Amino acid sequence: MTHLSPGPAAGWSPLARSFHWLVAMLLLAQIPLAWYMVDQPLGPAKLGNYALHKSLGMLVFALTAVRLAWRLTHPAPPLPPGTPGWQRGAARLTQGLLYFLMFAMPLTGWLNSSAANFPVSVFGLFALPNLIEADPVRQQGFEDSHRVQSYLLFAVLTAHLAGALYHQYVKRDGVLAGMLGFGGVHR
Ligand code: HEM
Repeated sequence: MTHLSPGPAAGWSPLARSFHWLVAMLLLAQIPLAWYMVDQPLGPAKLGNYALHKSLGMLVFALTAVRLAWRLTHPAPPLPPGTPGWQRGAARLTQGLLYFLMFAMPLTGWLNSSAANFPVSVFGLFALPNLIEADPVRQQGFEDSHRVQSYLLFAVLTAHLAGALYHQYVKRDGVLAGMLGFGGVHR
């Protein structure tokens, strides 16, 4: 537990932490669910998993929109003094890519479904409009870009996690503690 004691890094507010861990859990569920569903034989179980994947993905999209609006008006707690410039740059790059992918992945998924003329239902509560006309060629393009984005997301999430573990176990500077709720000043 000593590693989780407050370090010099300031903490994130309860709202920022809730956004972070809720979206983290959704992304960690989405990727294995998607890998599993694409290989399932066609049937009700596969269709149910596709519907769940689309609903969870649109939830990520909505949460990310609210989270980004909040984030743009509430600056992040500063990194510990003395953090090298390249590490600040790497953190900004991975966090920027994560925001980009949390918008781009739901959009290419939604465009893929639209081009296949499969309207997207959100948890069976309401259906989203198709963004484009049915078009098999564009559908394949969106499916391919969604897949490539998923590989990039996996790589960026791994880098993000490696950065968190580096702060926690090598630098021991309280950055992870700040996102877990053990930090000092709340932003
Ligand atoms: C952050 C949100 C999302 C993540 C992380 C994500 C991730 C993935 C991954 C990892 C795959 C498997 C790719 C492969 O290996 O073939 C996949 C497939 C798929 N996703 Fe998503 N997805 C997201 C959002 C969405 C949304 C919002 C939709 C639709 C509204 C969607 C529709 C699909 C479809 C239809 C496939 C299957 C494509 C195929 O049959 O090959 N996804 N997604």
